[in-house]
Amino acid sequence: MAMRSVILGTGSALPKRRLDNAELAKTVDTSDQWIVERTGIHTRYIAGDGETTATLAADASRKALEHAGVDASDIDLIVLATATPDQTFPSSATRVQAMLGIPDCIAFDVHAVCTGFLYALSVADSMLKSGNGTKALVIGSETFSRILDWEDRATCVLFGDGAGALVLGTEDGTRGILATKLHADGRYNDMLFVDGGPSTTGTVGKLRMKGREVFRHAVINLADVLNEVLAEIGLTAADVDWIVPHQANARILDATARKLGVSSDKIVVTVDRHANTSAASVPLALDTAVRDGRIKRGDLIVLEAMGGGFTWGAAALRY
Ligand code: UT7
Repeated sequence: MAMRSVILGTGSALPKRRLDNAELAKTVDTSDQWIVERTGIHTRYIAGDGETTATLAADASRKALEHAGVDASDIDLIVLATATPDQTFPSSATRVQAMLGIPDCIAFDVHAVCTGFLYALSVADSMLKSGNGTKALVIGSETFSRILDWEDRATCVLFGDGAGALVLGTEDGTRGILATKLHADGRYNDMLFVDGGPSTTGTVGKLRMKGREVFRHAVINLADVLNEVLAEIGLTAADVDWIVPHQANARILDATARKLGVSSDKIVVTVDRHANTSAASVPLALDTAVRDGRIKRGDLIVLEAMGGGFTWGAAALRY
């Protein structure tokens, strides 16, 4: 039997402050009706003083470790996906390592914006299977509120902050990660980007997006990569129990479901509550559906995401 990376536990964390559309409409020229109709978003969480990408990641990790029944000292590898690290360096993964009191392990960040968690999961899976330890923390954590232009109504209403984490172990058997597929196409760099950086402006910059173009590519790429990852293991969308997609827009999720011919009640949706939390959105949604009992041991799940770069990817796993 093949050795596979299995999910031992999941966890998530949100900032204390919840911001609903009506409150946002007091400071930005928008309305609850526009945001709900165009995106399905009702609320998002915004990091306050003392809440950062690393603190949220550490909180989510502690919950995932507890859920898994694994001690932090047993972690061999931390892979943290983020586009909003606490500092340009060191990596937020090493900050999380220190917060969790792990004296020595492999720790690094992965940067693929909204697809970051799929990249992190694929890297961690490969590293465990090639002998770099037996237990990994895979984290998606973001504080996009800190790179939003709060005067740009076309973007600031769409994003929120949060973190999700999972503990991976290894097992010989039929469950675990069955296949992953990753893609990038840098010709689309200017569709979704931040207009600053250490090596260009020397500033952090603000998020800019051509929303309509991103929307169109998201539906095509998400449907294609889901079929691709399932074809690799000889299955189709009809075999899937749950799809846990990146949470950018409820209309993207509906359009993808239609394109795939799957019922929308097989899709885990949290964008209404969390908005788009970039690399955190897939593990946040996964933890939500595991803890509310929808996702059960033995279910076939596809995780998938698409974002800046463009980057996109999917993972098929037996939970
Ligand atoms: O995480 C990576 C993936 N990201 C995404 O997948 C985001 C993909 N894009 C989207 O979700 C959608 O394109 C948006 C939600 C960003 C925009 O929806 P849309 O249906 O494509 O709207 P639009 O950009 O075409 O704008 C329609 C109208 C415009 O007004 P006019 O030009 O028709 O008069 C905008 O100015 O809506 C206006 N508008 C707003 N109105 C009220 C844009 N933002 C707002 C707003 N409140 N917040």
